[in-house]
Amino acid sequence: MKIVSTDNLDIQTVIEYFKKDVVVIPTETVYGLSASIYNEEALLNIFKLKRRPADNPLIVHVSSIDMLKTVIDGDIPKEYSKIIDKYWPGPISLLFKANKNVSKIVTAGLDTVLVRMPDNSTVLEIINKLNEPLATPSANISGRPSPSCIQHTIDDFGEDVHLYIDGGKCRVGLESTVFSYLSTPIILRPEGICIEQLEDLLSTNISVKYNFKKDKPDEICPGQKYKHYSPRNKFVLIMKDTEDITEFVKDFISCKKFAKIGILSHFNCKIRDKQFSNIEVYFLGSNNKEIASNLFRGLRKLDGHCDIIFTSGVSLEKEGEAVMDRMKKAAHHIIK
Ligand code: TXA
Ligand code: MG
Repeated sequence: MKIVSTDNLDIQTVIEYFKKDVVVIPTETVYGLSASIYNEEALLNIFKLKRRPADNPLIVHVSSIDMLKTVIDGDIPKEYSKIIDKYWPGPISLLFKANKNVSKIVTAGLDTVLVRMPDNSTVLEIINKLNEPLATPSANISGRPSPSCIQHTIDDFGEDVHLYIDGGKCRVGLESTVFSYLSTPIILRPEGICIEQLEDLLSTNISVKYNFKKDKPDEICPGQKYKHYSPRNKFVLIMKDTEDITEFVKDFISCKKFAKIGILSHFNCKIRDKQFSNIEVYFLGSNNKEIASNLFRGLRKLDGHCDIIFTSGVSLEKEGEAVMDRMKKAAHHIIK
């Protein structure tokens, strides 16, 4: 296994790895497990390594509009052109009708393809030189929190991946916004580019789709029906309107002994820790943007050694929508 930094990268060597197999790459959102969309063996290896169900399609990364045109069917819808002009390269993925030559392994048999242009100059250079789009889901085992630094992905895949490209801490820390205007405009996965920004840009109302129910199949965004982002140990989300979560934590753990308790604290989540014997607090941030960027890191950090982790909800402003989406999907238990 080789770990190379984006600072001294030999692009040609990276291309050689891509010809053979998968590579872990940094993006501005989270790290991705990446393979050329034309390398079917490597694509299948993505599913195997991530333990990803075969009906969950792969998001495609491109480095240019010309490359985008090779994977979609028909013209770029005019609403998408506005988004692309303003936000690409950047953390928003767009759903298109798929070109017939896109592998069914990528689309999981759907007639659509999800595409984005990542805001990472090294990755854009790699895609450009390779001259092939990259299928790149988040570089975590399915169901685990997405990786916002290289160590998270090494923790999940270890020696099973032969090349890891280290680009440091991901700037955004949560995955891209997923947006579709194939029928009505809808955000399928919220992130930092939020509903207000898109409504302003497109001068239309946009809905946001959530799907927290694992048993209810989701015909538009199949991946959303699986358990997401969860730490291995218990994660409890407190949705009460209070800054101090001490009483809720006390009530919740009263009937069961936990050796170590983790708290993901933030501006709306504090604890009078003197009451508990063995507690570790990880501070997520003093605004929604900081919390978005640190959430997965905090979950992974505490998950290593806490038996139960608590946090409380945030307001839905700006990145708050995305934060609440991820927290609710990760939670084993929500206190309402
Ligand atoms: O920021 C990101 O989007 C990261 C980085 C690495 O680019 N990638 C990422 O990929 O989050 P992934 O696979 O973890 O999440 C993509 C989501 C999945 O829920 C998947 O089901 C959905 O997008 N998706 C992919 N292709 C789709 C399609 N054709 N139709 C509907 N949903 C699709
Ligand atoms: Mg993912």
